[in-house]
Amino acid sequence: MKLSAEKQEWSNALPEVFRQVFSDSEGAAEGDVIGALVSDLLTQTPDDDLHAAIAHDGPQVLGCILFSRLRLDRDPRQVFLMSPVAVRTDRQKKGIGQQLIAYGLDGLRRDKVDFVVTYGDPNYYGKAGFLPISEEFLQAPLPLSHPHGWLGQALTAAEMAPFNGPSHCVSAFNKPELW
Ligand SMILES: CC(C)(COP(=O)(O)OP(=O)(O)OC[C@H]1O[C@@H](n2cnc3c(N)ncnc32)[C@H](O)[C@@H]1OP(=O)(O)O)[C@@H](O)C(=O)NCCC(=O)NCCS
Repeated sequence: MKLSAEKQEWSNALPEVFRQVFSDSEGAAEGDVIGALVSDLLTQTPDDDLHAAIAHDGPQVLGCILFSRLRLDRDPRQVFLMSPVAVRTDRQKKGIGQQLIAYGLDGLRRDKVDFVVTYGDPNYYGKAGFLPISEEFLQAPLPLSHPHGWLGQALTAAEMAPFNGPSHCVSAFNKPELW
């Protein structure tokens, strides 16, 4: 298995990988929603606002994570949203998800990103260093249907004061049903 950040090189394959994985785990309708989200992220997001971590075995994608920018109106710190995350159904529970997260966060750290948020299962993401955060600490861009899934971690050693101002996600994420 190899890890790559080259989103362009893999962009044709990624929507279908996510569609398949989420279709297996959450049903066909959710698979379609996440496949479309990934396609929108790859085609509509400015290059600087989207990072990827891709695990592959030769030409076959084994897993992928996308990271997209969250802009804050009144805070200079750089924040990214880690979502969505998928590992091929037949390769899950072998550590690929955790390796992808670690690789993706290393890339963001090199790019001087200060903080990463995600929205998901606290048990799983807790293993990768994410802790629950409140909206007083960092306001989500849209109303959260599962506030306990709002998680974050600092990528620098600096003390993290609460973030100022509303946050804005990239356009692909700007849909209430995704939150
Ligand atoms: C969630 C997902 C990305 C995890 O990837 P993975 O490669 O299977 O996970 P890993 O093998 O790295 O898991 C590492 C640890 O987390 C545990 N784990 C895996 N999935 C978990 C889950 N859903 N909840 C809690 N713990 C989980 C594993 O048991 C393992 O624990 P251990 O290290 O103590 O043995 C993958 O299962 C997946 O794609 N699921 C379907 C899509 C999805 O739900 N994505 C996340 C929402 S965006």
